Amino acid sequence: MMYIVKMFIKQIWDVLESDRRLILLSVFCGLLFTGLGIVPPLLVREMLLWLQPEAVPGNFAMLALLAAIVYAARGAMRYCYGLSSHIAAYNTLHRLTNRVYAHLQTMSPSYLNRRHSGNLVARSIGDVDAIEDFIAHGIPETVLAMVIPTTMSIVLLIINWQLALVALLPLPFLAIVMYILRKRTRNYWGHVRKQFATVSALMSDFLNGIKVIQTFQAYKVTAARLQFQSKDYRDKIVYANKWSLVPAGVVEVFSGAGIVCVICAGSWMIAGSHTQLQVSIPDLVVFLMYLGQIFLPFLRLATMTDHIQKAAASAARVFELLAAKPDIVDAEDARVPLAPRYDIAFEDVEFSYQADESVLTGATFSIAENEIVALVGETGVGKSTACQLLVRFHDVTKGAVRVGGVDVRELPLDYLRRQIAMVPQEMFLFEGSIRENLLIGKEDATDAELLDAISQADAREFVESFVDGLDTIVGERGVRLSGGQKQRVGIARALLKDAPILVLDEATSAVDVETEAAIRQAIKRAATGRTVLIVAHRLETIKTASRIVVLDKGKVVEQGTFAELVEKQGVFCRIYQV
Ligand SMILES: Nc1ncnc2c1ncn2[C@@H]1O[C@H](COP(=O)(O)OP(=O)(O)OP(=O)(O)O)[C@@H](O)[C@H]1O
Ligand SMILES: [Mg+2]
Repeated sequence: MMYIVKMFIKQIWDVLESDRRLILLSVFCGLLFTGLGIVPPLLVREMLLWLQPEAVPGNFAMLALLAAIVYAARGAMRYCYGLSSHIAAYNTLHRLTNRVYAHLQTMSPSYLNRRHSGNLVARSIGDVDAIEDFIAHGIPETVLAMVIPTTMSIVLLIINWQLALVALLPLPFLAIVMYILRKRTRNYWGHVRKQFATVSALMSDFLNGIKVIQTFQAYKVTAARLQFQSKDYRDKIVYANKWSLVPAGVVEVFSGAGIVCVICAGSWMIAGSHTQLQVSIPDLVVFLMYLGQIFLPFLRLATMTDHIQKAAASAARVFELLAAKPDIVDAEDARVPLAPRYDIAFEDVEFSYQADESVLTGATFSIAENEIVALVGETGVGKSTACQLLVRFHDVTKGAVRVGGVDVRELPLDYLRRQIAMVPQEMFLFEGSIRENLLIGKEDATDAELLDAISQADAREFVESFVDGLDTIVGERGVRLSGGQKQRVGIARALLKDAPILVLDEATSAVDVETEAAIRQAIKRAATGRTVLIVAHRLETIKTASRIVVLDKGKVVEQGTFAELVEKQGVFCRIYQV
């Protein structure tokens, strides 16, 4: 536990970077704020001293002015302390959020796929948030919670040490009770947060699949499942509250006990004729005023340990995420080739996602520069996988994928990906306009270039039929476009990139004959002057290729022109029934 806290403090200190001064400023202002809090009771004591029968009255106006100044300064300090800690915290939040995202961007799709996307978002946002909370409140308040009781105790001891000992009698007992309570509630909030994540993930999953739920009338089942999890969440949080609210009550009781002690001992000391043990009324008033504040920080410390644990757990997760090394990186000797070529070769490529299930088991084929090759095969045979090996979303387990004769693992990753424009099978459009989605292909494309690209992709007609044209909003994941439209926007995006290699993973979803012809035209136009790999499902698309490569059981079993394959009457003819 100590080790984790130590690590945590080091990590937080590191991540504060340029905001360390702000945090120190915040603690400093907090200390001043607290220090000034000790003054008002002392002013009241002074006033009461002046009011005693035999005393010489001082300047009450000065006293009032002093009190006014103290409170004004306290107000200013409180503001500065809150503001500087929050600025530091939000700066850190901003930095961490961006750092996490920038890091996740470099991770391979398979790393990201292994984690539930909801979990990753919860990590990137939720955990960073918990750290922010700790920096804004945890650091300054923990310091203050320790300083307040100490300084007030010292002042009390100076004023009247005998009475102070009596008044502070409940403090050690309070500390013990709080410690026991902590052990009882430790980690409980962790379960609560986990359950909350479950409930929200479930709800967002159901809402994403709302069409399925509505068509299958699965309202009751899904509602029941949500209810079950939500009830569990309620039970857990009620239980956690049962214990976490106890300290507030306990602190109240103990500060009462302190006051009871002072009343008993004070009245006894005042009434008695003991020369050794005496207390004046003004001192008694200071005691009572301090006791109202001296126990409160324990309450803060109690909730603070919760905060620290929560933040430490979050920090551990965030830093673990940041420490994860990307699995697909540049080789040390990766070089941009001096005379780049764009032919593609798969040499005895073996690949598997899971250890015991091979997808490709020695696939060999090549595509010459400016050639159009169609990769075909039954569903699940590994066609899309082959495309992903080419752009290094994964690395082969054996053999090699070469571009221009160079193993893709020996090319700089950004160089490799600059040479390839890909139209993925599952077209993904980002929330935003068609224009914004196209500009991903080329950041600084002019309107003329955009129009040219959509014309080539046969998308111009439907884009211009929309009232907003290029500025039409496509909706989350492009839901407001049809499958065929999305695909053509995707082709236009790939064309804008103007890369020498084009990989087109044809969507399996059926489109009408007219759209099919339009897409085929688009592909034909896109292919000129490029090396093209088309994963083809439709005969029409296959016919646009100059050569066809047939995958079966992880290997290339046939290749040749359409006519040659038809003549052969092999696997190709069996799949396409020609
Ligand atoms: N991310 C993944 N993790 C584990 N297995 C995967 C993953 N992606 C694909 N697979 C498996 O790899 C095999 C090949 O998948 P792939 O997507 O390459 O097939 P495909 O030939 O493109 O099929 P389709 O014609 O249906 O698009 C399948 O058996 C699939 O279950
Ligand atoms: Mg596929």
